[in-house]
Amino acid sequence: MKITTRFLFFLLLACCQHAFSQARYTAWDSLALTPPMGWNSWNFFEARVSEQVIKDMADAMAANGMKAAGYQYLVIDDHWVGGRDKHNQLYPDPERFPHGMKYLADYVHGKGLKLGIYSDAAPLTCGGVTGSYNFEEEDARTFAGWGIDFLKYDYCNAPEDVTTAFARYARMGDALKKCGRPIVYSICEWGPRKPWLWARAAGGHLWRTTWDSRDVWESHNTNLTGMMEIFRQQENLAPYAGPGGWNDPDLLMVGLYGKGSSSSVDGRFKGCTTTEYRTHFALWCMLAAPLMVNMDLRTIDAETLRLLTNKQLIAINQDALGKQATTVLKRDSLQVLLKPLQGHAFAVCVFNTAASNAAFDIQLKKDLDLWQPFRIQEVWSGKNVSALKGTLAAHDCAVYILEEGQK
Ligand code: GLA
Repeated sequence: MKITTRFLFFLLLACCQHAFSQARYTAWDSLALTPPMGWNSWNFFEARVSEQVIKDMADAMAANGMKAAGYQYLVIDDHWVGGRDKHNQLYPDPERFPHGMKYLADYVHGKGLKLGIYSDAAPLTCGGVTGSYNFEEEDARTFAGWGIDFLKYDYCNAPEDVTTAFARYARMGDALKKCGRPIVYSICEWGPRKPWLWARAAGGHLWRTTWDSRDVWESHNTNLTGMMEIFRQQENLAPYAGPGGWNDPDLLMVGLYGKGSSSSVDGRFKGCTTTEYRTHFALWCMLAAPLMVNMDLRTIDAETLRLLTNKQLIAINQDALGKQATTVLKRDSLQVLLKPLQGHAFAVCVFNTAASNAAFDIQLKKDLDLWQPFRIQEVWSGKNVSALKGTLAAHDCAVYILEEGQK
């Protein structure tokens, strides 16, 4: 083929590929082409969530650099509902939300942020207030009318079988799709019915894969999942995550230090170390997990803020390819995760599962099967390095971004 013909041929091919890759995502998918980022009221505020709390969090997020880093949603979790009025319309608890939800959504939108809310696929939520079962269309319209942008939909007090779960989630999914406002749909049935297999078909943009996270590195108890129990449960789920739909390994415990009533199980867990929180955050970024902070943002310290707004980690999490990292190597106490990024780049996380120091020396070719030359940036220091080598403290991790090119 002559050069010009070949060029035209490849140009046509590239255009077709581009058109197909654009067409792969529906408008619904496009509400979550990358994992949603924000804050959720559950573990810290529980039934104390209020208009003032959400306004304070919005003010903090807009001013402290989190909004600029990509955090967007403020999600009001359980316990906001007052009841249903005589027209069957949901209304918020009048004492904690004195000006109503429309007012609050306007306030949050005024800060350039988005508001999320919570309900349940049964007559009552986990916290025992009114849920949306049998009122899916009415409630979706109400949420749209208030200006809600995100719905977390729980599964307490609902039948256990997967057929019913799918039907109930699809009913709310359909209602959201026709409510007249783009609303991100967060499915929360905790994993027992393998939602990664069907949640997208029910309209979900993210689906919880585990029971509630607790503020502890490892609980050694399958009923009270610590960060390591949750992390291990994500290992085979990578194929199900991608633009438009994400595995959700639950809220970020970062910065709670045992202060959340639910995540500490009323003081039973005292929280994690600063090192453990940074590994937790790095792992959730590698997993392309939704990044939902839980701590009280009014009292965030500089180090936690630096972690949560780390540009490289957020870029890894928000990478447009939308790949969830997989474990490519386990050696002694070391575990290595690899996340393909757009532009033939990779993120690598080496973490030390042991409670004592561990040295590492990871060879790109031999250990990771990566043969081309890479420029390597180490994320904590931001510096370029020539090898994936060092010593990790107990439960610490090192993260690298590998870009094709000369060292
Ligand atoms: C369930 C969910 C939590 C939280 C509570 C609220 O436990 O998994 O994330 O929403 O309900 O009651």
